[in-house]
Amino acid sequence: MKKSWITPEIRRKAQRILSGLSLEQKAGQMTQYDWGFNPINPDTGLSQRDMICEQIAQGLVGSVFNLAGAEEANRLQQLAVDNDGDGHGVPLLIGRDVIHGYRTVFPIPLAQASAWNPALAGATAAAASREALADGVAWVFAPMIDVSRDPRWGRIAESIGEDPLLASAYAEAWVNGSQVGSDNGDGNGSSPEVASCPKHYAGYGLAEAGRDYNTVDLSDRVLREVILPPFRKAVEAGALTIMASFNEVNGIPACANRYLLTTILREEWGFEGVVASDYNALQELITHGVAADEEEACLLSLRAGTDVDMASGIYIRHLPRLVREGKVPESLVDEAVLRILALKLKLGLFERPYVSPSEYATDSSLPAEHIALARQAARESIVLLHNEGDVLPLSKTTSSIAVIGPLADSFKDPLGCWAFDGRPDDVVSVLEGVRQAAASTAVVSYAKGCEVDGVSGSGWEESELAVALEVAGKADVIVLALGETFEMSGEARSRTNLDLPGGQRRLVEAVAQLGKPIVAVLLTGRPLAIPWLQDYADAIVQAWHLGVQSGHGIADVLFGDYNPSGRLTVTFPLNVGQVPIYYYRKKTGRPPGGVYTSYYLDSSTDPLYPFGFGLSYTSFHYGEIRCVNPQAALGESFDLSVEVSNTGSREGEEVVQIYIRDEAASVTQPLKKLVGFRKVKLGAGESIVVAFTLGADALAILDADMNVTVEPGDFTVWIGPSSAEGESVRLTVEAPAQ
Ligand code: BGC
Repeated sequence: MKKSWITPEIRRKAQRILSGLSLEQKAGQMTQYDWGFNPINPDTGLSQRDMICEQIAQGLVGSVFNLAGAEEANRLQQLAVDNDGDGHGVPLLIGRDVIHGYRTVFPIPLAQASAWNPALAGATAAAASREALADGVAWVFAPMIDVSRDPRWGRIAESIGEDPLLASAYAEAWVNGSQVGSDNGDGNGSSPEVASCPKHYAGYGLAEAGRDYNTVDLSDRVLREVILPPFRKAVEAGALTIMASFNEVNGIPACANRYLLTTILREEWGFEGVVASDYNALQELITHGVAADEEEACLLSLRAGTDVDMASGIYIRHLPRLVREGKVPESLVDEAVLRILALKLKLGLFERPYVSPSEYATDSSLPAEHIALARQAARESIVLLHNEGDVLPLSKTTSSIAVIGPLADSFKDPLGCWAFDGRPDDVVSVLEGVRQAAASTAVVSYAKGCEVDGVSGSGWEESELAVALEVAGKADVIVLALGETFEMSGEARSRTNLDLPGGQRRLVEAVAQLGKPIVAVLLTGRPLAIPWLQDYADAIVQAWHLGVQSGHGIADVLFGDYNPSGRLTVTFPLNVGQVPIYYYRKKTGRPPGGVYTSYYLDSSTDPLYPFGFGLSYTSFHYGEIRCVNPQAALGESFDLSVEVSNTGSREGEEVVQIYIRDEAASVTQPLKKLVGFRKVKLGAGESIVVAFTLGADALAILDADMNVTVEPGDFTVWIGPSSAEGESVRLTVEAPAQ
């Protein structure tokens, strides 16, 4: 158990500040406003910002978000700190959605997950937090660790994918990375100056039919086996805050769900930090139909354990009166405010409320070390899906390359779904990346070919195609930059069609008629279901939305300056009808084969590309799995190892994955469950022994009463390059002698 971060000293200070606050000011600390939303109030004639400033000056606001820049942050901070004229006001906590970068935009989280490199994601999160902190942001609403199994859901882009273990590893690294701080010299290492906010707690990624904000129907088993592990890991890693999700869990929306926010989070896990609602979620309790009015929404949220009301203003409007009327004890308000004040103390906001304009200022160029990190993250995020006849890497002697497609010259789309603070000017497009990489060897030509025309419309112009065919016809190799715009994934960006939007399929089909080698580069925020593309493209490169260094990362892979090492962390479906499709599925009781088995009349049940899959320019061979103790007593662990060899002719990285199946347990178990992975780099001809220890964490199940337990019996273990491949061994946990 981690040491409490609310030390006696922090508690004492927080209590002293708390005792000086009026009831209104306490409710104010629990109130967070959106500075970016600025309507005029028709009754008062005041803008929302005027109102916020007035309230800050009276100590009635705890937090704001969506500010832009240090100057504005300092101005508001001064209103808060100097509200009583003597500089003793409580500083504001300034929040922001820093999801995959700030000024330096890194690959979307789903891409970063494909690198299977949590430490690298931790580094990008730290860089983003440093940039944000320089603008006064001390609270980043990240990481997003919703397990996501549905590519129709636009927010899959923000997620780590479908696996709880991988999402947990990223949650830990991201929390640690984003909570950057300074070493205050007290021997306790660095103390965070930025708080992370893992979200959305919990189950938001399971919106029915992949439609954002839709109802979630979630058993306690799936909640505890699949959805909660990343959040628990984030809490163990020291996340200082957490965001409750919009959705209901077992009929109760998260910000009013005491089981989630208090029973599990605080009582079971010992979380001490601050719980924030999602945007306007207190108000939405009325829309959900679980609260008749604002007063009831206020009471439900407070009692459930929501400390900060994001954007609705319900706490400040109702809490003081409800306390005075005796409808809720003041002690409950005090507990919440104490946590908020403790957080502000922990982050050093009382000592350092102001920031100085910095090297990361809006108009300055990006720091070189962040650009280098962005390039590394971009190239490691790329997944090579198909490479017929080894068309990739492109030969350096190729003398003419045509870069075609609606995303080839885009500077905005590679920024991805959360890039408020990124600038298209900082982006290297695919075309630019290829041009620079091939500057001394090849002529690089370009044509757009068609539009990515949103969800409707043909996105098609005969004349545009004609130009593309002419340009492509003169080249030795065609690179097609295809995919989705940045607006097609992210929040409120669900799709029912997982094909290439607009005129892109027609473009591919027409260009293929030229009979030239085709490399398709997919810039998307989600998996697409496009099995037909393999019939036209010799190579398919899943490049996601990779941020500012997009074009360089892609060119590094296309020309073999970087050997692709990305592996999918979401299953790519063959068609939309298969969705949700994910590797971590149960067996069902049906025997394979015959009519009454679990299958489709009109489609395979296999995915297009499985979880964990990705190709390399070299090849890897897995030896036999060795286990010194294939029979172990209950309570012991298994020690396994496998020799992995690079059998190709160039250096490469392999993601060695280990999966387990409990063959017979008291509760049905997934066919395969990822229990570990290692990313290893091997020179040509080199071998390495990769070892794993499988202990209680890997072997345990949740029994019928939700107790964590290891049951004696047989286990099958696979070690291999994806969830669909690998050698296996049988292990046995022996029952204790009677
Ligand atoms: C999103 C959150 C986000 C918040 C503030 C909400 O709509 O669900 O992820 O942090 O807005 O922008």
